[in-house]
Amino acid sequence: MKALVLAGGFGTRLRPLSCTRPKLLLPVANQPVIDWTLRSLAEHGVDTVVLAVNYMAEAMVRYLGPTKFNLGILYSREERPLGTGGPIRKAESFLRDGDPFFVLNGDVISDIDYSRLLEFHEEAGGLATIALYEVPDPSRYGAVELDGKGRVRRFVEKPRPGEAPSNLVNAGIYVLDPKVIDYIPEGRAVSTETEVFPCLAKEGQLYGFEFRGLWVDIGVPEDYLRANALLLERENGVKIGEGVEVDPSAEVLPPSIIGEGVKIGGRSVIGPNCAIADHVEIGVGCRVQNSIIFSGAVIGDFTSVKGAIIGENAMLERWVKIEEGAIIGDHATICDEVTLTRGVSVCPSKRVEESILEPRRVM
Ligand code: GDD
Ligand code: MG
Repeated sequence: MKALVLAGGFGTRLRPLSCTRPKLLLPVANQPVIDWTLRSLAEHGVDTVVLAVNYMAEAMVRYLGPTKFNLGILYSREERPLGTGGPIRKAESFLRDGDPFFVLNGDVISDIDYSRLLEFHEEAGGLATIALYEVPDPSRYGAVELDGKGRVRRFVEKPRPGEAPSNLVNAGIYVLDPKVIDYIPEGRAVSTETEVFPCLAKEGQLYGFEFRGLWVDIGVPEDYLRANALLLERENGVKIGEGVEVDPSAEVLPPSIIGEGVKIGGRSVIGPNCAIADHVEIGVGCRVQNSIIFSGAVIGDFTSVKGAIIGENAMLERWVKIEEGAIIGDHATICDEVTLTRGVSVCPSKRVEESILEPRRVM
C-alpha cells in the first residue's frame, strides 16, 4: 500500500519557526512531525511513501533520505506550489497501479487506525473516503454533512459563521481510488477541498469515516503546543535522554521529555508538558512549563518560560520572562531582564534588549 504525504506548505502561521525549516520537521515531543506519521503508516502496512515537497524540499530529503521505519521514501518535487490536489496529479505515474492509496496532510498528528479506514473505504465502495473528526469550531477546517449511510452530502471548506453543516471536519487523511486522479486538472495548483471533494460529494462518491482519539493539525502555535502536550501525556511520565545532567535540587515534572546532553541547574523546575530537545542548557532557578525548547537553546539563570516555543540555539539570558504564546526564532538573543508578553514573536537571529508588553512580531 502506498501513501502520498503533502509536505510542501509554507507554514506561514508558524512563522518565525517555519522561516528556517519546513513545518513537517518541527519537533513534537522531541521528534519531527513527519516521524510520527511515517512510523504509524509503517505499522499499518504501508510500504512506500511519496513526499510531495517544494518549500525547503532539500531539508526534508536530507533529514529522511531514501528510507525510514522500513518504508521506501520517494520525493515528488514541485517547481511551484501545486496546492493540496496538484501533487496527487503530479505523482500519478506512481499512484495509478489499480489499488487505492492514502493521501495525508503532513501537518496532522493522529493515532487513527489506517487499516480500519481502508476497510471502511472498501466496504463503502465509493471513489474516496475521508477521515472525519469532531471539533468544537469547524471554521479552520473543511466541514461535512453526512447522510445516514456515511456518505458525504456536502463538503464546505473553511465555513464562515453559520455555514458549517456540522462539527465533523476533514481530518486531512484520505483513501482515494486511482480514478479520483481524473478529477484533478493537470499542470496547475488545485485545491482538493474546493475543487475535487464538492464534485465527488455531488456524485455520491465521497464517504466519511468518523474516528476518535488523537488528532491535531499543528498548523498554528496553540495547536502545535497542544499536540506536544497530548503526545507527552500519552508517553506518560518523565523521559530522560543520555548524558543528561540534572542538579539534585532541580525538578522535572511529568509529563516531560528531556533530550540528550541537556543540563539543568540547581532549583530549576521543568514541566509539566515540556519537550526539551538535545543539548539545551538551563541555568539555576529557572521555571519552564508547557513549552517546546528546540535543540541547543540556552536558558539563563532565573529565567521563566511559560507556554512558549524557543527556537534552535536561541539564547535567553538571565532574569528573562517569556509568557504564553510567545515564539522565539532560531539563534535569537533575549537580553537580561527582558519580558516578552503573550503573542510576541521574534525573528531568527534577532537581539531583543527591551521588554515588549503587547503582541507583535520583532523583525
Ligand atoms: N506539496 C504541497 N504543495 N503541499 C502543500 C501545498 C503545496 O502547494 N500547499 C499545502 N500543502 C500541504 C501542507 O504542508 C499541509 O500538510 C497540507 O497540504 C494542508 O495544507 P494546510 O495549509 O495545512 O491546510 P489547512 O490546515 O488550512 O486545511 C486543510 O487541513 C484541514 C485539516 O487539518 C484542509 O484539508 C481542511 O479541509 C482540513 O480540515
Ligand atoms: Mg494544516
